[in-house]
Amino acid sequence: MYIKSINLENFRNYKNQNIEFINGINLFVGNNAQGKTNIIESIYISAFGKSYRTIKDLEIIKFDEEYSKISSNFIKNNTEQNIELYIDKNNRKVIKKDDVKINKLSDFVGNVLIVIFSPDSLDIVKGSPSKRREFIDMMCCQLSKSYLISHQEYTKCLKLKNSMLKQDFVDKQYIHILNEKMSDYIEKIVKFRENIICKLLEKSKTIHSLITQGKEEINLEYISDFRGLSKNQIKDLLDKYLEIEIIKKSSLKGIQRDDLKININDLEVEKYGSQGQNRTALLTLKLANFEVLIDEKEEIPILLLDDIMSELDSNRISFLLKYIEKYQSIITTTDASFVNNVENIKISKVLNGTLEI
Ligand SMILES: Nc1ncnc2c1ncn2[C@@H]1O[C@H](COP(=O)(O)OP(=O)(O)O)[C@@H](O)[C@H]1O
Ligand SMILES: [Mg+2]
Repeated sequence: MYIKSINLENFRNYKNQNIEFINGINLFVGNNAQGKTNIIESIYISAFGKSYRTIKDLEIIKFDEEYSKISSNFIKNNTEQNIELYIDKNNRKVIKKDDVKINKLSDFVGNVLIVIFSPDSLDIVKGSPSKRREFIDMMCCQLSKSYLISHQEYTKCLKLKNSMLKQDFVDKQYIHILNEKMSDYIEKIVKFRENIICKLLEKSKTIHSLITQGKEEINLEYISDFRGLSKNQIKDLLDKYLEIEIIKKSSLKGIQRDDLKININDLEVEKYGSQGQNRTALLTLKLANFEVLIDEKEEIPILLLDDIMSELDSNRISFLLKYIEKYQSIITTTDASFVNNVENIKISKVLNGTLEI
């Protein structure tokens, strides 16, 4: 699939801007704080119905305006599709697909496929486990509606459980009922994560070897307390921790503690990776993510590369440019000097919320 155009109305620093894309490399060049990342964010919102930069929807509304509207046109299986997102200061939020209102996020996510790569993505390699879970979840949610629903339901139960554990009197029967429900979701989520990480590993090995010319080997290991356990065994494990959870006043076991271990040549990158290795591992993971989505959904995602060229050395840049040649990408940069002999590229300048071609 690819994005044909997007119209931004009162979105961030854009008053009313139409942007046309080519099915190739779309490069947005400009100084800092001109509106480059805002473009990436608007495409992300068209895919996920919310931003990754803020949890407050209202922040996307242009200062001093009442509402914000993003309308984007995609080509999917040779058919044009329109996605519209409207949000106003009264917190009214409406998402429409081809003019039909969408009521649940689970009916929306997975329609527009994207892979996003920004300087913040380095947290996947160097940051806390939550960043790695986010990375895996984002891929799983785009792949499976039932994964997304299980995850949403699990999170609701976890919130209820944690608020009960904070009470002076803990209703144990209630927690047992929550544990029962949660073990069902855990079983589904863990199986799905396990399967996707296995596919991600297969792709990562090939890509990593290509980038490093066979000098390095990457390995991924899914860390979870629940691998290989049946629903009943999961429930028993959760129940076993109840007494100590009451003392600690919070949940100790659950998929919110899962992690993904990333090794290069048998050493954990999080602890021992050099700056170059971290970046290469990340590039590998993102491209592997891209390929897993293609295989599983039989559709090509849109690559969003926000300000990452300055993070990569010239070898990795040439690898990446060659790799993305056949696909659609949206790239932002302050310095376009890496562009040399590149075909199928459209360059636009971004200046204070306006575009010049
Ligand atoms: N809600 C908003 N209304 C108006 N301007 C905004 C809003 N949110 C962010 N901005 C402006 O957008 C600019 C940042 O845009 P961004 O796309 O992140 O820049 P960059 O080109 O560096 O990627 C800043 O000038 C910021 O003040
Ligand atoms: Mg930016």
